[in-house]
Amino acid sequence: MSQVTVVDHPLIQHKLSLMRRKETGTARFRSLLREISLLLGYEVTRDLGLETRPIETPLATMDAPVLSGRKPVLISVLRAGNGLLDGMLDLIPSARVGYVGLYRDPETLIAVEYYFKVPEDLEDRLVIVLDPMLATANSAIAAVERAREASARHIKMVCLIAAPEGLEAFRAAHPDVHVYTAAIDERLDDHGYIVPGIGDAGDRLYGTR
Ligand code: PRP
Ligand code: URA
Repeated sequence: MSQVTVVDHPLIQHKLSLMRRKETGTARFRSLLREISLLLGYEVTRDLGLETRPIETPLATMDAPVLSGRKPVLISVLRAGNGLLDGMLDLIPSARVGYVGLYRDPETLIAVEYYFKVPEDLEDRLVIVLDPMLATANSAIAAVERAREASARHIKMVCLIAAPEGLEAFRAAHPDVHVYTAAIDERLDDHGYIVPGIGDAGDRLYGTR
């Protein structure tokens, strides 16, 4: 089974509580998600490889550690994945970026794809899939499947809140994909929303409802 890491840093937990409050408006919600994404990004990139290169400081030469290997790829699941993307790009400015457009059919909760564009050469890169909500996990499962079809081999999943039901489904579908989340909430409601959750992430990020 895939690993799940709940990133329980106090700053993340505090900021997530602010996001959950229904009074929190769009601008604040968006900036909190960006701030949290920096902290989640710190954790998800913890095992990036390093090599040393000779450099000169003003005082001496040294073998300095620098990132090795090919640049990572961030794949945002539209729309709400973009709320995590900007902070991640602040951390890894040279990352390549892909997008998977998916919406959840409100009746069936099946993820329907409407857009797909990712870098061509995913084989040798760390691919980090971003979607703040892992509810039924239909969207996350579909996004990772599409990344695999595009030849991704080393994939990590980053979300903000996961439902226990979704985590179970995701881990069964993609047992080799490590999931990073800020919280695992109680359950899904009858409409597939995470409880207590944050509501509809896309609507709260973009003020569409
Ligand atoms: C939301 C969210 C996830 C998905 C999670 O997207 O951003 O992508 O639902 O639910 P699931 O785990 O049950 O698939 P939504 O379909 O509302 O689209 P949006 O981001 O464009 O608003
Ligand atoms: N999508 C959301 O945006 N929120 C949920 O709680 C579930 C799916």
